Amino acid sequence: MSPTPTRGTLADGWGRAVTYLRLSVTDRCNYRCTYCMPPEGLPDKLPHHSILTFEEAERIVGVLAASGVRRVRLTGGEPLARRGLEDLVRRLVRVPGVAQVVMTTNGHGLAGRLAALAAAGLGGVSVSLDSLDGARFRRVTRQGDLDEVRRGIAAATARFRGVRLNTVAIAGFNDDEVGAICRYAWDLGCVPRFIEHMPMSDGRLEIPGRFLTAAAVRARLLGDLAGTLTPDPGDGEGGGPARYWRHSGGGLVGFIAPLTEHFCDSCNRVRLDASGRLHACLYHSDAADLRAALAAGGATAVAAAARAVLSRKPPEHQFGPGTDGASPKHMGALGG
Ligand code: 5AD
Ligand code: SF4
Repeated sequence: MSPTPTRGTLADGWGRAVTYLRLSVTDRCNYRCTYCMPPEGLPDKLPHHSILTFEEAERIVGVLAASGVRRVRLTGGEPLARRGLEDLVRRLVRVPGVAQVVMTTNGHGLAGRLAALAAAGLGGVSVSLDSLDGARFRRVTRQGDLDEVRRGIAAATARFRGVRLNTVAIAGFNDDEVGAICRYAWDLGCVPRFIEHMPMSDGRLEIPGRFLTAAAVRARLLGDLAGTLTPDPGDGEGGGPARYWRHSGGGLVGFIAPLTEHFCDSCNRVRLDASGRLHACLYHSDAADLRAALAAGGATAVAAAARAVLSRKPPEHQFGPGTDGASPKHMGALGG
């Protein structure tokens, strides 16, 4: 790609328009997935006063939506850990330009909150699910409760169509569950998606030999379920990093393969962390402090700061296996 700076709508220096914002509402999580956080939680936890208020989040989203952002995904940490999340949803769905507000969650506590979140205007959820075996689930999440998450998934499927179940693919851990996870998801009307593990946190959470490619997951799927897989346009949400396949049995399955089938050329997203720093890429150290910009110069300054960080966005990430290809950023603070 050659640089083609774009004015007006929010785009990076390579001509990629930004239409999707992942908004981390907290860096706290009640789980400690081994690939995401150390047992004691993230280092450098944000102090309470550093967390964006709902009003600040709403104003920043307003600026980004005026520049082309159409979908907002609430992430964390665990977004349900943020008190009053329903109020934030209510504010964000009213922001001019925002077409949809959705959420990615670990599912714990979802069953009890879903009705209120949906009433506030939430448009859909994705739930993490790394194993269907209770003991394994507990091992990977360190404190998770599979039955509780299943209740959350059931509540989500009763309310929304096409709920996505995200599984981080881990060799020697859940590669023998690929078929079972797909069948479970399809029976509930969900879309299973398998994610290649990205080395974050300077590679400190890497477990050598555990990396599993999307191609290997597809092979396991066919081994478990037989049949064939055909590339498919997917669940209609488009523009995301997942590539979809249709199983000959009818089910849709997605793969997010940042390492082996990377999708940087179609990247449409930015991430706002819980303190208001805008990240144009999960990999590169590039964040701009939009909260400070908002305080100093209001909407104009926020728009300028967002444009500046995007103008520096490199064409692609440099993730690779092991610590050399790791990002210094923490996934647990950026919400995937
Ligand atoms: N690589 C890939 N996916 C990750 N997630 C958390 N950490 C990583 C990582 N290092 C996933 C979670 C959740 C989503 C928000 O991101 O499992 O599904
Ligand atoms: Fe929490 Fe999600 Fe990280 Fe697991 S992957 S520790 S549920 S933020």
